[in-house]
Amino acid sequence: MSNPLAWASVPVALSLFVSLTACAQPQEPISIIKPAVITAPEKVELGKMLYFEPRLSMSGYISCNSCHNLSMGGVDALPTSIGHHWQEGPINSPTVLNADLMLAQFWDGRAKDLKEQAAGPIANPVEMGYTHELAIDTVASMPAYVARFEKVYGSSDVNIDRITDAIATFEKTLVTPNSTFDQYLLGDKNAISADVKAGYQLFKDKGCVSCHNGPAVGGTMYMKMGVIKPFHTNNPAEGRKAVTGRNSDKFVFKVPTLRNIELTYPYFHDGSVWTLEEAIHTMADIQLAQQFNEKETAQMVEFLKSLTGDQPQVTLPLLPPSNANTPRPVPFSSHNK
Ligand code: HEC
Ligand code: HEC
Repeated sequence: MSNPLAWASVPVALSLFVSLTACAQPQEPISIIKPAVITAPEKVELGKMLYFEPRLSMSGYISCNSCHNLSMGGVDALPTSIGHHWQEGPINSPTVLNADLMLAQFWDGRAKDLKEQAAGPIANPVEMGYTHELAIDTVASMPAYVARFEKVYGSSDVNIDRITDAIATFEKTLVTPNSTFDQYLLGDKNAISADVKAGYQLFKDKGCVSCHNGPAVGGTMYMKMGVIKPFHTNNPAEGRKAVTGRNSDKFVFKVPTLRNIELTYPYFHDGSVWTLEEAIHTMADIQLAQQFNEKETAQMVEFLKSLTGDQPQVTLPLLPPSNANTPRPVPFSSHNK
């Protein structure tokens, strides 16, 4: 859908989408976030430990939670992340909240699901800077972990498949139901203010919803950043082109979720925009050739804020202590020499 001509088919795709979901949520292109159903609590707990485990990084300091902070909407609130050796990351950290609802993971969709995604950061030199072998040795060195793997998977084998499976299982619980907008969708017409309703109407009438739809209000498709006018950035990311090799996929990104968007600033893949007002104006301008006056912008902001749901209530996991067999952290490069 990267060339402007293909744009004409969006309304068709949208009406198809609406009719397919019509039974569940009549007429609404956005559907509710359902609460997590936890069927394997011990696996979720193990995954939570690994999510908060800084010893999955070379420095012994960086965990998944460092860049996807569950106290802050599942992001690091930085333009681009800080990785191993304080390296500047290449791209903005997207939220892990509701990530399982996305059609694929990463801005360019290069991982098909959460499990495949979770293998990436551990061994990424600008993220956790470790290796899968060392990560496995680290976890397997601690008897309390091994006992949990045995209980959850039926044998004491610690491997990357199980580590990423457990992390992904925990991440699937990181959903944010019960936003005031969802209460409205469920039939409580007073759950949202008149401004939120007006903002939602604009969101539909102006065409935002043709790309941002579904339960996550995004994550259902890839679209070009800059359909009408180019997006100006110094960030070298090329989007889907990096996955498909096709020039037509240059600057095509996964449409991000707008759930909890109030919490997940700064915005866009380069993290260049800090306010919702500016993000709305940029989107309207370069994606839709639309403009919003001050009042409309304020209503749109109110609508976007109504998408903030109940944040996962996470009790910090207690991690077992390292021992003589646990690989030592290497936080500073001077230790490597
Ligand atoms: C150093 C910071 C950093 C660390 C540590 C990190 N991530 Fe990420 N994460 C990112 C960035 C940046 C991206 C986006 C990369 C891209 O799209 O190319 C990302 C993408 C993701 C996504 C995709 C979300 C989406 O909507 O596409 C998920 C899920 C995720 N990370 C989970 C994890 C897990 C699980 C861990 C721990 C094993 C982890 N991350 C560790 C920075 C980090
Ligand atoms: C043609 C598809 C399309 C349309 C129409 C569209 N968006 Fe987007 N939106 C995207 C894509 C793709 C991105 C990610 C772009 C990037 O960062 O490179 C995005 C990003 C955003 C973001 C930032 C999300 C984040 O986490 O960084 C916000 C906020 C947003 N859109 C709101 C809107 C609003 C409001 C409208 C209507 C005025 C709108 N969008 C219309 C495709 C679209």
